[in-house]
Amino acid sequence: MRKLGLFVTGAVIWGMLVAARPWTSPEIEAKIDQIVAGLPLEQKIGQLVQVSWRNVEDPETLVREGKVGSFLNVLDAKTARALQEIALHESPSHIPLIFGLDVIHGYRTIFPIPLAGAASWDPELIRRNCRIAAEEATAEGVHWTFAPMVDIARDPRWGRIAEGAGEDPFLGSVMARARVKGFQGDHLGDANRLVACAKHFVGYGAAIGGRDYNTTDMSDWTLRTIYLPPFEAAVEAGVATVMSAFNDLNGIPASANRFTLTRILRQEWGFQGFVVSDWNAITELINHGVAGNKAEAAEKALRAGVDMDMMGFAYSDELANLVRRGLISETDVDQAVRRVLRVKLASGLFEHPFPDEDRAKRVILSPEHLEAARQAAREGIVLLKNEGNLLPLSTTGLRLAVVGPLADDRDAPLGSWACLGRPADVISVLAGIREAMPGSDVAFAKGCAIDSDDTSGVAEAVKLAAQSDVVVLVVGESRRMSGEGGSRAFLGLPGRQLDLVKRVVATGKPTVVVLINGRPLAIPWIAEHATAILETWQLGVQHGRAVADVLFGMYNPSGKLPATFPRCVGQVPIFYNHKNTGRPPREDTRWTSRYVDAPSTPQFPFGFGLSYTKYEYRDLKIEPTQIGPAGKVHVSVTVENVGRRAGEEIVQLYIRDPVASVTRPVRELKGFRRVHLDPGESKRLSFELGPEELGFYNVRSEWVVEPGKFEVWVGPSSAEGLHGEFFVVD
Ligand code: GLC
Repeated sequence: MRKLGLFVTGAVIWGMLVAARPWTSPEIEAKIDQIVAGLPLEQKIGQLVQVSWRNVEDPETLVREGKVGSFLNVLDAKTARALQEIALHESPSHIPLIFGLDVIHGYRTIFPIPLAGAASWDPELIRRNCRIAAEEATAEGVHWTFAPMVDIARDPRWGRIAEGAGEDPFLGSVMARARVKGFQGDHLGDANRLVACAKHFVGYGAAIGGRDYNTTDMSDWTLRTIYLPPFEAAVEAGVATVMSAFNDLNGIPASANRFTLTRILRQEWGFQGFVVSDWNAITELINHGVAGNKAEAAEKALRAGVDMDMMGFAYSDELANLVRRGLISETDVDQAVRRVLRVKLASGLFEHPFPDEDRAKRVILSPEHLEAARQAAREGIVLLKNEGNLLPLSTTGLRLAVVGPLADDRDAPLGSWACLGRPADVISVLAGIREAMPGSDVAFAKGCAIDSDDTSGVAEAVKLAAQSDVVVLVVGESRRMSGEGGSRAFLGLPGRQLDLVKRVVATGKPTVVVLINGRPLAIPWIAEHATAILETWQLGVQHGRAVADVLFGMYNPSGKLPATFPRCVGQVPIFYNHKNTGRPPREDTRWTSRYVDAPSTPQFPFGFGLSYTKYEYRDLKIEPTQIGPAGKVHVSVTVENVGRRAGEEIVQLYIRDPVASVTRPVRELKGFRRVHLDPGESKRLSFELGPEELGFYNVRSEWVVEPGKFEVWVGPSSAEGLHGEFFVVD
């Protein structure tokens, strides 16, 4: 078959061309030359050292001696200002410090966890939320966020699935761009924008067994098709920094992997910023077994392309000796220093190094920010079931019982990496419901704890349920059960929560299960027996109000799953863009790719989410039906709201290349549109498919578009939609 498009060598040339991206200017380069020329080796190395303010004995002295160029975890403006004053006026180089912090989904105004953000399929909303987070964080002296986390995750046992955009590289790339643009703006340099950081480069989410920090091992096809695209999208969006990951990637740890850090990131993509290691990841090369000591670890990491050492003390302790022993050159050090200085200069750090305490008072937790958080929370909610259209509920004339260990929990909704978020700022589900039903007597019983064997409270909860008209049952995970180090071997409800659910449902009262969780859960019993199910993830400070908005119909749920929900942990990894195999699963014969003790289909598929209204898809058109390998087809479809409520539908477009030189996934998301439709309203939506969407990496890692039939689906999820086809011909 004729190959078309960019060869990998071409990609490298492209990367060199792109390298002239507006990252720098002759003035900045001249300034870098001037600074570097005047820096002794020790001061250069200081620029490559990042330490956590709360984890070092004497931060002020480190600054005064020029032994540190960046801090993380400086949590207040006063400390930031004091350290910066020392750097600017007492250190040998007078180079400002860059303060980094994990502003992942908000600073004080906490937004939904990124997985819930992805469930909105609304990049403009995400971009605005990141801009708000930057507005708040920079006011208190933060310059740099270790976000967006863009790791693709296909295994919900991995706790960090909470921090990313789920299982799909297309959705993940859209969200990566939105977050980078939200944090940094269209160009670096504004005082109220943050330097962003695409992490964790690369493949971290493929940890074997879903066990955090575990080995990852994958083909080049999987690396380039699944795990790299969101990073490439972040680089295209201008991300200023990248964080190298903890994991061993195909035998070479990500923080010593020259192929990914230099060949792909810099030579193929033209990345001009700097790479910071993850916490102690350089020194952990010793544990990985690719370095015998810290000196070897430092040498390997610098040569691979890691410019700054986060809390590893490898660069601070070893680089000078390595230069003196001739094992690395001062030029190698200069290259890393230039990259760090380029970001410090391009981000305006020399112009505005200090916090803005007055602005902080105005913007932090402002009414506008809280309203934005409420809208973000609404859009992250996914309606998974609504038997008999139980929802939305009336706010009057209803005896409502709110039950469950998370109903009045104000900590869990913050989710992992909640920065300076405080439970006191959170509206719980119970509080949100009571606020929406003024004057009504909303009964509450906890029933049981999140994760204990104590069922002493179940009887009281069941009694309350039996006396109500409808039960809202709020169950799920604490925030420590996901996020970093939050891997789980089981995916059911922790503790005795499922017993509580079963006992409440057994009362025969209509039951709405509200899930608060940081990952897809395995909830087969609930999926079968609950009347309605709302997936509410961890939605931040406005969690309870948003849940009430959806429960009572003030907001018609529009969220769609960014990750597949398995029926049980035994199905994992299970994801929508899988290969067909030589024996695709059939339930009528054992001799196919299936289980004898479970279905092969997921509980809820990628892209799934219901609404309080009904959308009809019709008139799918693909024009032309035949194109050349560099051609484009236009796909259009009409979507009508045939229900009685206005709503937002997320129309999704998937393709399949059924015959190619390598096996291709049975579906691949290649486009989506978020559309508002009033009752009775219809809109015609169009998409375009060209080499960017139809191409793939062949067995030689070349990007090609191959002739043959292509299938198209346009619909409400990865499992359904109108079907059509077209042909690529030579
Ligand atoms: C952590 C995380 C990383 C975070 C960094 C700084 O170990 O892996 O995501 O940004 O350390 O807190």
